[in-house]
Amino acid sequence: EKGGYDHFMLKEIYEQPNAIRDTYRGRLLANKGIIKMAGVDDNLDRIAKANRILIVGCGTSWHAGLVAEYIFEDMARIPVEVEYASEFRYRNPVITENDVVIAISQSGETADTMAAIKLAKEKGAFVFGVCNVVGSSISRETMAGAYTHAGPEIGVASTKAFTTQITVLTLMALKLGKYKGTISDSDFRVHLQALEAIPQKVEKLLQSDKVIKEIAETYKNTRNCIYLGRGYNFPVALEGALKLKEISYIHAEGYPAAEMKHGPIALIDEEMPVVVIAVRKGHYEKVVSNIQEIKSRKGKIISVVTEGDVEVKELADHVIEIPETIESFTPLLTTIPLQLLSYHIAVMLGKNVDQPRNLAKSVTVE
Ligand code: F6R
Repeated sequence: EKGGYDHFMLKEIYEQPNAIRDTYRGRLLANKGIIKMAGVDDNLDRIAKANRILIVGCGTSWHAGLVAEYIFEDMARIPVEVEYASEFRYRNPVITENDVVIAISQSGETADTMAAIKLAKEKGAFVFGVCNVVGSSISRETMAGAYTHAGPEIGVASTKAFTTQITVLTLMALKLGKYKGTISDSDFRVHLQALEAIPQKVEKLLQSDKVIKEIAETYKNTRNCIYLGRGYNFPVALEGALKLKEISYIHAEGYPAAEMKHGPIALIDEEMPVVVIAVRKGHYEKVVSNIQEIKSRKGKIISVVTEGDVEVKELADHVIEIPETIESFTPLLTTIPLQLLSYHIAVMLGKNVDQPRNLAKSVTVE
């Protein structure tokens, strides 16, 4: 049942090229230059005219929402807020009929997310679900939705659910951008083609597993780890840190790279590994200077870079290369080496990777 893999988590990490493909299959028609999503098509005007989009979720699904915030704002020019479902529901949130709420949940059973949906519906918002489990409570409670087609995710640590959630949300943002005219026709086509090329790129980067294993061997006994990223890759830093905490029980924190100087930099010494996502896009030069700041304080630098990178390679102790893609799609690639890093460290430490202590696959308590 693990298909020859030692753990479900590893199997699910390796399933990502197909999971992403299955998620856009029938929806992304790159040659025709269209995106078909029944749940969005049927409500296109309602969603495109939203005053704002409010995304709710927990854990990894919340991180997917954070990535989506950047993508929706960039492509569809709709203001987005992302909230932990558990915080949203216990405040007295300002929601109106002109808001669209997107609830993200792999299991479709998370109690806090469910409660947030009920609250949003009471206030008259239009609620859209992004779930993986067909027929789950959340998929039934939402007014429309789009499934991720990741297939069953058994490992407690979420992997392929995350990348497929980002895939669905990206399709949605592109579709809305096209409808609203906030993305040009040529840009739209370029994005469709780039998205279609992602699974192949994931296949390619999965081949760097050996390098990642060596890095895991070097740092497996660390007590702490920091993850840094900027822009689209800031949420990836949070997700990388969560994966490490969950399955290896090593204390890890994710930060926007530029926030380092406002406090966390005090933690850096020769004992501190710092994982930095430094793809050659957007804020590259800024990230390079963040890396220099860490290096001058003797932190150990593990960097995720774009193939052919020169600058970061000179500074970092270890680099993991990912293929080049459009900036907004880099999270689909940069996330994967961080999943593998956590996986290998946890295995080396003898932890129960698929069923970490104190955690359950679906959290149905509030
Ligand atoms: C992280 C993880 C959890 C879930 C969270 C939400 O690896 O598995 O943080 O992401 O409990 O679960 P769903 O997406 O099922 O609502």
